[in-house]
Amino acid sequence: MIRKRGCLIFCGAFLFVTWNAILVLMLWGRPPSSQLEKGEQEVAEDPTGDMVGDLIRVADELEEELEQQKKVLFQIQTLWEQSKRHNGKAVAPSQPVIPILVIACNRVTVRRCLDKLLQHRPSSELYPIIVSQDCGHADTAEVIRSYGNNVTHLKQPDLSDIPVRPEHKKFQGYYKISRHYRWALNQVFKELSHSSVVVVEDDLEVAPDFFEYFQALLPLLKSDPSLWCVSAWNDNGRDGYVDPGKADLLYRTDFFPGLGWMLLREVWEELEPKWPASFWDDWMRQPEQRRERACIRPEISRTLTFGRQGVSLGQFYDKYLRYIKLNSESVPFTQLDLSYLKEETYRQSFDKEVYNAPVVTYEDVKQGLLKGPGPFRLQYSSKDSFKMLTKNLGIMDDLKSGVPRTGYRGVVSFFFKGRRIYLAPPPGWTQYDPSWS
Ligand code: UD1
Ligand code: MN
Repeated sequence: MIRKRGCLIFCGAFLFVTWNAILVLMLWGRPPSSQLEKGEQEVAEDPTGDMVGDLIRVADELEEELEQQKKVLFQIQTLWEQSKRHNGKAVAPSQPVIPILVIACNRVTVRRCLDKLLQHRPSSELYPIIVSQDCGHADTAEVIRSYGNNVTHLKQPDLSDIPVRPEHKKFQGYYKISRHYRWALNQVFKELSHSSVVVVEDDLEVAPDFFEYFQALLPLLKSDPSLWCVSAWNDNGRDGYVDPGKADLLYRTDFFPGLGWMLLREVWEELEPKWPASFWDDWMRQPEQRRERACIRPEISRTLTFGRQGVSLGQFYDKYLRYIKLNSESVPFTQLDLSYLKEETYRQSFDKEVYNAPVVTYEDVKQGLLKGPGPFRLQYSSKDSFKMLTKNLGIMDDLKSGVPRTGYRGVVSFFFKGRRIYLAPPPGWTQYDPSWS
């Protein structure tokens, strides 16, 4: 491809130079136009004036000719651009289209989300951006509209209040979010007939390799029925708790992370009929929905949230979310071998990695007394010891339906004082206990 282009440019330049040379020769050799019109005598009377006149005439004709050539060159350039675009399209069929669904409501800061998506998006054909807006907020609508054809702007039509029982009045926002998600995902899969989607909320900023990450993992998500999502988010991804040298490291997790996540149409068709009236994310974390399926998540997050003011209050944000580190260097995921993430392979090598690691005490971890490069295993054997250890080490201590955040088969992997630590249940783990919360 490169050789062909090089040749084309060379040939074009050669033709251009030759053409100009011929042109100059022709113009010098041609009799003056006035000579043809007025007869030869008149001209012969003033040889000096004739010389100057000749020069002016040649200059005029050259100018005209250059104008013509500019037009020709401009046409060549247009053709060249078109052929380049066409070549871009020619590779498209091998890469599937993954729409990005942005969930928006009443925050004009959706601009930050959209600017980053557009900044890092490698192709508008492969990653159409669909902004679905709830709440009918005029200023936010105006911001979205200002992106013109770069995004598709949908508006959730039902803005009515949702009847809820009195003690849930304060959760009205969560009911509206849930209603909006159902509508927006139906638009993507049913109206627009896409087969996959990446869901992004309006308070998320994406990393440079966000698109590459999802493109690379789509085949795995499609081929492995034990997976039901790919997420860009690491719940324990705070600075200092991730290995900065492992931007390419990915995990399976039993905890649904959300916050920039990809799902397939089949999963939506399964969830849509029973979609909940509120708290959709925790609902997805229940065993009836999850059905022992896992998500892929990165060591270093590919999204960060800047939404301190949201439907939930800002405490959780101030304590954890605002410190999540966003990956900055691009990893060429589509060129990496990701087969280590396949269920059987992964489970075996992960179990081996975790349970071959020496057991250490909380004190040694906390005080940085560990000898050797690691990894190390820190054991918990009850809900209480899990809570105690996580709280004291500064990692997420909550569990949903018995699954700890980022957990895989009960194991939470994190980085602490430069060492890999696996917070793990005793060997022989079989299942989660939904009563742990
Ligand atoms: C939290 C979760 C969020 C989840 C939500 C629902 C975090 C950091 N965030 O929301 O992922 O979806 O709980 O359980 O864990 N929105 C509407 N309509 C509304 C209000 C909000 O569509 O009436 C949209 C917002 O534009 C946003 C999303 O819903 O995209 C979440 O709203 P936000 O205010 O950010 O709530 P969180 O507390 O972050
Ligand atoms: Mn939010």
